[in-house]
Amino acid sequence: MSKYYITTSIPYVNAELHIGHAMELLQADVLARYHRQNGYDVVFATGSDEHGSKIAEKAAEKGVTNQEFVDAHVTAFKKLLKELQITNDRFTRTTSPDHEKRAQIVWKNLSKYIYKNSYIGLYCVGCEEFVTEQKAKDNNGVCPNHNRPYEQVKEENHFFALSTFTDKIKQAINDGTLQIVPETRKHEIIQLLNEGLDDISISRSKEKLTWGVAVPSDSSQVMYVWFEALLNYITVLGYPDSPDMAAYWPADVQIVGKDILRFHAAIWPGILLGLGLDLPKKLYVHGFISSEGKKMSKTLGNVVAPADIIDTYKLDAMRYYFLRHIPSYGDGDFNWQRMNEVYNNELANELGNGVGRVAAMISKYQDNIIGEVPPAEHDIHEYQLALQECRFDRALEEVWEQVRGLNQYIDAVKPWQIAKQGDSVHLQEVLALCVSNLLEIAALLAPFLPDTSAKIAVMFKDGIVRPLDEPLFPKEQEKPTQK
Ligand code: MSP
Repeated sequence: MSKYYITTSIPYVNAELHIGHAMELLQADVLARYHRQNGYDVVFATGSDEHGSKIAEKAAEKGVTNQEFVDAHVTAFKKLLKELQITNDRFTRTTSPDHEKRAQIVWKNLSKYIYKNSYIGLYCVGCEEFVTEQKAKDNNGVCPNHNRPYEQVKEENHFFALSTFTDKIKQAINDGTLQIVPETRKHEIIQLLNEGLDDISISRSKEKLTWGVAVPSDSSQVMYVWFEALLNYITVLGYPDSPDMAAYWPADVQIVGKDILRFHAAIWPGILLGLGLDLPKKLYVHGFISSEGKKMSKTLGNVVAPADIIDTYKLDAMRYYFLRHIPSYGDGDFNWQRMNEVYNNELANELGNGVGRVAAMISKYQDNIIGEVPPAEHDIHEYQLALQECRFDRALEEVWEQVRGLNQYIDAVKPWQIAKQGDSVHLQEVLALCVSNLLEIAALLAPFLPDTSAKIAVMFKDGIVRPLDEPLFPKEQEKPTQK
């Protein structure tokens, strides 16, 4: 059986996860479900990034221990996975003994490329990242993402000889060994590689930070959180010697947001090359979601929790909005008014009505008997291609072509007139064709809208209609336009 390994980035568990995190999980979930549906042996891994100064700082603010702090957030994270019906097979906590042990093995296996050096640089604790003098100057000494001044950090650290791998990484990206989608992100990283990669500091002094994985054979240092977090993608498979490593690595798709492109398209490939491992086949980079047209931020109070949307519209409607109306290759916006329009127009009026009409006509004219259903006849090549390219929006557009096509077909052939004319053979043919189309739509929707897809499939299976108690997307409930 073909193997398929897919990962998301592992979010920091220092705050409640929001719709941006949810979208990434949903995208990965679609690919995992789609590949399972098509017979692949899938491993879908996600997890939580639990070390580093950001976490330690927040825990101190709350007056709890670091471990208590991350435990509480991981519990909330797991609840969210359930609410979103994410079908991940694995979940890595970077504070788990297994991850820590394997991260130390990685360190030892990379030792050829690790050296100690002293370092002075400007650092943003929010990003957990050093910045160049030039970047700090361009930003007037303040990190634009976290609104806090860069700190001057001077210490002796372990360095990873990333510069050694610049050319190899560039070649792998250029020749498609490591495919980066969309193209714009590929160009961005190639530009960076053209400037050449610097060696990077991969440890922190314990004097400054104890909340990290111990560096083997140097008790004064812990691993830099980004270095260690990236390793989750292989520690979860049991690097170095578990059979899963040989079976599932390299990853088929790794999904990350545009802000962490450099870590995944430069540093991560460098680590893998240093370990003598293959590079992932594809890195899909999604954009950012804003809320009501503005960047989500706690200060603005416009951070949207996935549960708010699910409570009002139910999960499938939420999944639909994020997969269809947030551009897969760019940035997008969530706003309640648009959510309401999408729910009413596309889900209730187009899909819900299509399903409801066909079921009602078969109930009314044929006493719930569908008869022989012809095989599906649509060309789904574009849908398949879209999923191969991680264009979730495009794949759903293809499905909606069919949904609209079905409604148009019903309007054009007017089954109620055929019924009036008493041509029951023709009527049965027409309605069975509609059912065939709906079952195909259900199959195509399965990775995206699992509940809806299952309902449609059950409604029309085995040649009999089982009408639903209420419409798929009930409209009579007044949906709020503003929260
Ligand atoms: N912990 C690191 C990832 C380590 S992976 C080895 C991290 N965590 S994060 O919580 O800040 O972000 C997790 C993911 O959520 C990233 O892919 C990031 O791009 C994504 N998003 C965070 N905010 C987002 C939006 N507003 N919109 C869409 N995705 C966003 O980075």
